Amino acid sequence: MEFRIKRAPRIEAEITVPGDKSISHRAVILGALTNGVCVLRGFLPSDDCLRTVQALRALGIKIEHPEPDMLIVHGKKRLLTAPAGEIDCGNSATTMRLLAGLLAGQSFDSVLVGGATLSARPMDRVILPLRKMGANIVAQGPNETAPVKIHGVKLRAARHDLPIASAQVKSALLLAGLFAKGKTTVREPSISRNHTELMLNYFLVRTVRDEDGAINIFGDQVPESRDFRIPGDISSAAFWLVAAAAQPGGHLLVRDVGLNDTRTAVLGVLVRMGAQVREAVDDVDQMEPSGTVEVTGAPLKGTVIQGKEIPQLIDELPILAVAGALASGTTIIRQAQELRVKETDRIAAIAHNLRAMGVEVIEQQDGLEIHGRGELRGARVASFGDHRIAMAFAIAGMFADGETVVQDVECVRESYPGFEKTLDEFVSSKRVRVTTPVISSLTPAKVEEE
Ligand code: S3P
Repeated sequence: MEFRIKRAPRIEAEITVPGDKSISHRAVILGALTNGVCVLRGFLPSDDCLRTVQALRALGIKIEHPEPDMLIVHGKKRLLTAPAGEIDCGNSATTMRLLAGLLAGQSFDSVLVGGATLSARPMDRVILPLRKMGANIVAQGPNETAPVKIHGVKLRAARHDLPIASAQVKSALLLAGLFAKGKTTVREPSISRNHTELMLNYFLVRTVRDEDGAINIFGDQVPESRDFRIPGDISSAAFWLVAAAAQPGGHLLVRDVGLNDTRTAVLGVLVRMGAQVREAVDDVDQMEPSGTVEVTGAPLKGTVIQGKEIPQLIDELPILAVAGALASGTTIIRQAQELRVKETDRIAAIAHNLRAMGVEVIEQQDGLEIHGRGELRGARVASFGDHRIAMAFAIAGMFADGETVVQDVECVRESYPGFEKTLDEFVSSKRVRVTTPVISSLTPAKVEEE
């Protein structure tokens, strides 16, 4: 399957996006450990999140799925049972890494396998710290890759000072810590998304944050069952936010989207690039803030994205690179070497596709230097089997002369079912335009110091 995209008309729209991927995974896993029934609304029914649902079912948890975005998880008070066979995580690294932490401390063995892109991704980042807790776990593929074979043991608590800011690794260790005796501590070099911490607290699991930001979890706690509503995914919203931001006079409202401040750095970058961005939190009841983002487009200018900002917008870098290509001046992305080990080598993939669209790009080991020219040339580009590359270049096509074809876009289902329909509405004149009055309570998005 491919996307064929032509230049888009001016954006004047109001949309919602499907549920947050990271929060959906965590809600299923933690819901399964609670002492009762949890109704999850706003669940993202994407391939990746459905892998987590299937995995928990294989571990003996009853999960009903009465509507696409609704799950009823029957928690069994931390009791999981041995799976009948291998657990297939598809291409979902979040499923594989979080489950590695969860399964290390069980009283049974398990094997986690993955599809082609996941089987090339490093697993030593979770395996090495888990071994420090006594875990008996090996990656059987070349260079510490899947299949991951786990021999369940009694874990001991440990302190972890992580070399990379990774929410997947942090979450795996917190889940392992829940099944270890005593206090497990996880300290990351800079703050990554904190959904696991928030959701543990929501399900009344006690954690303590030290002054240096390290998080402590105490083993042997049973999460308390509660219902939860998952907000829209800001990483999915980012594609449309950039499209509106890069169109002078474009205007977009995204409602019911997650506004957790470990995820909203993308908004600050768009402000630095010259767009007008405002956000209004209208729900904090469940610890995960959500609300509305409003973007008004402008001629964008280049910026520098680096340092502590990187883990807080890591998934938005492909679309921000496209924003850089549409801006005047140079956009520099640095200290983003993690992009090399995502669903594909995203640094190489972005550079390849932007060049095909006529943009001058210098590829660095840890990032990119993009010489924006405001205009793009329609081209045939590849997804490299990576959902965020496919979607970022579909948006690029909305700004290109002539037709852009993005090839092999099935992967979009991993995080954003329905992307194609929204894309179609944005690029065709069939689209229903919704004009909404500006919300007075919206406040300007934060701008990080450069
Ligand atoms: C995720 C964490 C990030 C992110 C991924 C989802 C999560 O990965 O890129 O899409 O849900 O914890 P890393 O932990 O590898 O940075």
